Amino acid sequence: MKKHVAVTAVTGALMLGLITVAGATDPKGEFIGSEKCKSCHSEEYKSWKDTWHSKMVRPRKDGILKEVVEKWTTDGTEKGEGPTTGNVTKAKFKLDDVRYVVGSRWKQRFLVVNDQTGGMQFLNKQFNRYTNKWENYGNANDWNTNCGTCHTTGYRILEYDEKFGKHGRTVKDSYGEMGVGCEACHGPGNLHIKSQKADKKKTIFNPANADIKAQSKVCGYCHIRIENEKFMTAQGNPREDLPAPKVGDSYKAGDDWTKWYPEQAIIPGVHADQPANKEYVGDLKGLFKLDDHAKGNGIFEEAKHHQQYQGFLQSKHYLNGELSCVTCHSPHAGKGKLKKVQKEACVKCHDASFTLDRYMPNTGQTAGSLFMRSHTFGKNPRKGGAGAGDMGPVNYYE
Ligand code: HEC
Ligand code: HEC
Ligand code: HEC
Ligand code: HEC
Ligand code: HEC
Ligand code: HEC
Repeated sequence: MKKHVAVTAVTGALMLGLITVAGATDPKGEFIGSEKCKSCHSEEYKSWKDTWHSKMVRPRKDGILKEVVEKWTTDGTEKGEGPTTGNVTKAKFKLDDVRYVVGSRWKQRFLVVNDQTGGMQFLNKQFNRYTNKWENYGNANDWNTNCGTCHTTGYRILEYDEKFGKHGRTVKDSYGEMGVGCEACHGPGNLHIKSQKADKKKTIFNPANADIKAQSKVCGYCHIRIENEKFMTAQGNPREDLPAPKVGDSYKAGDDWTKWYPEQAIIPGVHADQPANKEYVGDLKGLFKLDDHAKGNGIFEEAKHHQQYQGFLQSKHYLNGELSCVTCHSPHAGKGKLKKVQKEACVKCHDASFTLDRYMPNTGQTAGSLFMRSHTFGKNPRKGGAGAGDMGPVNYYE
């Protein structure tokens, strides 16, 4: 009986073009938030707090940079006016209208409300910590429908309108918490916190227990650059993230997202028919280095940021099945273990000539003149630019 009701509800909605799954619930019931893990895992909680994952998206007052506040009107250069305009609605905004800040380590972007959708949109400038100046930022899509799965935890589309424009649009969505919380890498925690002690291990995902290639996929879900032609933003444009396979569902750490809707997800360097050395168009244009140096080595370094997974897949480290992202990066210290220091990772297996500056050149552009380290680990690396990771401590406005 219950099932019958659900089917009618779906068909009814489809006639309007709206996919609403009967019984689709807000992810907050399953993804309970990092604060709930603190009482039993205080050391893991503390080490996570020290990472940038926990600082990704924050309310303005907690995360806005000092320089940003000081330079809001101008950075002192001729065209150095700070943000004034919402990218989607073109409405005017002031510093006080900023709800959340996104990023802080090397660049910061600013979220204000989009009163047309109820979602949030970006302002028209981003702050570059390397140059200490404003630069243009033009993404004209609602934040939650274009950046959501990588910058929140437990993201879920709740309502989708298939009849909008050519492909449809995301109408309603939600998430467990802002930023990259515990459950981004461990899956939903609701059953885990309620379970008996004997069932605790069975009710939560630990990347360390997955096979080595699957470990990297946990990180790859976000450390990647894709185009999604199945789900569109609130504005009806292809999304840059991969929500779950269907409306009403969230990605859970451990899921094999590389198998989802392969006809509509363009994931260069991951899908066999979409190699790294192909020329892509649109938003994926210029994704990898394709010059003579790259062709000569048969290794195509990341040319933009958040592509570490796509770089790493080309490396012997990955192909040999000997290393995963977790080998060098652990988000945690605890139970007598110290946090792994990435910079010291190479000398465990190589001699001292294997330095980061040589073998992990900064190739992936993230803001003007600022780059992320390549993860291709080629034996004939190129020279890189200035590194986003080397920028020194951040000054927050207090
Ligand atoms: C009421 C206490 C409690 C809370 C709250 C709790 N855990 Fe646990 N967790 C445990 C216990 C007990 C274990 C099992 C430890 C063991 O047997 O070594 C465990 C184990 C784990 C493991 C290791 C599993 C494995 O297979 O190695 C992870 C990961 C984990 N918890 C994550 C979380 C996350 C994420 C949250 C918050 C969503 C959370 N825990 C909340 C008690 C808790
Ligand atoms: C970026 C991904 C990521 C995030 C975010 C994350 N973890 Fe983990 N966690 C891991 C990985 C990977 C391991 C495997 C152990 C290792 O190599 O450190 C792990 C292991 C654990 C373990 C088992 C520790 C052990 O010694 O066996 C617990 C418990 C845990 N995490 C809890 C948490 C809690 C609580 C949070 C949030 C406060 C959290 N994790 C956030 C990736 C993550
Ligand atoms: C839900 C998306 C998501 C997942 C899953 C994820 N990351 Fe991240 N990661 C991010 C974002 C977003 C940032 C940028 C944070 C910032 O700079 O404020 C980041 C930053 C980082 C950084 C640089 C900052 C730092 O704290 O050192 C490292 C290293 C990193 N991630 C490694 C990993 C590894 C390893 C895994 C898998 C165990 C992983 N990430 C899983 C989204 C994710
Ligand atoms: C496919 C996942 C993904 C999507 C989609 C995505 N990001 Fe990110 N973003 C990341 C990861 C991972 C990082 C950190 C690693 C890196 O930049 O190489 C990052 C870094 C950032 C940073 C810099 C953080 C810092 O501390 O300086 C900002 C700002 C940012 N993203 C904003 C956005 C905005 C705005 C959107 C949507 C238009 C977006 N991202 C879409 C994964 C993603
Ligand atoms: C857990 C051990 C381990 C760690 C840690 C490690 N490597 Fe490797 N590395 C290997 C193995 C195994 C190979 C593959 C050797 C082969 O098959 O020829 C390799 C190969 C390489 C190669 C040569 C690739 C080629 O095409 O010949 C480079 C460059 C490299 N590593 C750089 C680094 C750097 C830089 C670090 C530190 C950030 C690092 N490695 C950390 C084990 C490791
Ligand atoms: C062989 C060791 C090794 C492996 C494997 C590895 N990384 Fe890294 N990663 C590093 C080192 C070293 C740095 C630079 C750290 C620093 O400068 O302090 C780094 C930096 C980063 C950064 C920050 C960007 C920057 O330019 O500083 C991100 C994000 C990141 N790694 C994600 C990943 C992800 C995701 C994977 C798996 C797909 C991965 N890493 C695999 C060693 C590794």
